[in-house]
Amino acid sequence: MQISFVAPSNVTAREGGAWVVAAAEGSALLPAAVRLDKASGGAIARALKVSRFSGKSGQILEVVAPAGMAVSRLILAGLGKPESLDEKGLETLGAQIVARLHTVGESSARIEVDVPKGAKVKKGELAAHLAFGAKLKSYTFDKYRTRNLDEYEKKLKTLRIVTSEVDAAKKAYVGLAAVADGIFLARDLVNEPPNVLYPAEFARRARAQLSKLGVKVEILGEAEMKKQGFGALLGVGQGSERESQLVVMQWNGGKKSVKPIALVGKGVCFDSGGLSIKVGAGMQGMKGDMAGAAAVTGTMLALATRKAKVNAVGVIGLVENMPDGTSFRPDDVLTSLSGQTIEVLNTDAEGRLVLADALTYTQRRFKPKAVIDLATLTGAIVATLGYEHAGVFSNDDQIVSRIQAAGRHTGERVWQLPLDPFYDKMIRSKIADMKNIGGANSGAITAAQFLLRFIEKDTVWAHLDIAGVAWQDGEQKVTIPSWGTGWGVRLLNRLMKEHYES
Ligand code: BES
Ligand code: MN
Ligand code: ZN
Repeated sequence: MQISFVAPSNVTAREGGAWVVAAAEGSALLPAAVRLDKASGGAIARALKVSRFSGKSGQILEVVAPAGMAVSRLILAGLGKPESLDEKGLETLGAQIVARLHTVGESSARIEVDVPKGAKVKKGELAAHLAFGAKLKSYTFDKYRTRNLDEYEKKLKTLRIVTSEVDAAKKAYVGLAAVADGIFLARDLVNEPPNVLYPAEFARRARAQLSKLGVKVEILGEAEMKKQGFGALLGVGQGSERESQLVVMQWNGGKKSVKPIALVGKGVCFDSGGLSIKVGAGMQGMKGDMAGAAAVTGTMLALATRKAKVNAVGVIGLVENMPDGTSFRPDDVLTSLSGQTIEVLNTDAEGRLVLADALTYTQRRFKPKAVIDLATLTGAIVATLGYEHAGVFSNDDQIVSRIQAAGRHTGERVWQLPLDPFYDKMIRSKIADMKNIGGANSGAITAAQFLLRFIEKDTVWAHLDIAGVAWQDGEQKVTIPSWGTGWGVRLLNRLMKEHYES
């Protein structure tokens, strides 16, 4: 879908396609809607009289084939209350409008939304965020469909956003388009089936997408990791036919002397549970167990595309967790890169093992200013927070409030859960430094406590358990038209922008 910004003088009433205007809740039509109503001989006013449209956000009023006009349809969209109109709301609106255009099969449209009185947003920003929401809705993942393609095709090919501040809109949109690219990459990686996207293929794609943007990408294979002592990560991958990989991505857009922010991702390309094998229903969707790694990769792409003035490193541990004669076993003891030993009591608690070594490597090599890890780590976080919030655990209150604020702003919300020595006791082992599972309860917390054991003194660290938000099996969110959500790219991009860019 092509998105462009055009000045009002560059559109005429003689063009075809859909023409979208707006009204705020409880107030009259906005100027563009008034003009369109006049041009259509009062078609909108007449339609309003026979509808329940009141301008509430999400409402749509449609006039099809208005008499005497070239336009195929007039659409009036509800903005909601002007004072509560924010970037997130505009993105939702953009996506809602595009959803409607997809349903009716329009191939071209223009959207003309004025800033309503009482709204805090600027004209250019309004246009850019409408465009961003529209763009997010245009995502498709149909590469494996071979029949009835027409049914799935999104016919909308050109979308013009009409604004009197074209330059400001374009400027604001450049950064957002970069974020959309990062989200789309993350969604693609999560949606890909595990027979296609195994560790080496993930690593190849990361390199292919990022190195051309100036990101330094290194890939460590099993031989190298063995030499360095990645005993925990390699233990997980040892039952798989596919080689485990560690991908290190460096974007140096900031000052040389500034320590980087590190993003670490769990990349289990398929989690069967290993010898502690999952039941059938629990295994479905476990191709998405690399969503943390996908979010890290997508964020690196967004930062590099918009040339963010920040130093960021992304480290992702890519493995496949499979049952086999060569698999690691419950009862095995693994020696991690940190030197700490881990008694494996359940091979399905594998993500923390992968992260343990990735975290140690990241801290030792980069001495980062802060480390944020993302992982589809526990079913327990889904039981706790469901699908609306990711869990956040941290040893630093400041980074938590920054992450929470970024989450509120972007709609990728997080909720803090506790760390406490009491929970740490639950992962004590009878024979090794720790075991890889806690007790029957508080599973998301004991998983986080496990990770904390690999955080060095003075490292600022936050862990995001994204098991409930990385994909959507039920109802789709309006800006997310696919199974993989790309969760995390928006939040991390915002966090960098607000706090770590020079
Ligand atoms: N990848 C799963 C967690 C998961 C579950 C993600 C459901 C998304 C949806 C993780 O590796 C896992 O299997 N965790 C176990 C840990 C348990 C064995 C201590 C779990 O949550 O059941
Ligand atoms: Mn598992
Ligand atoms: Zn897993």
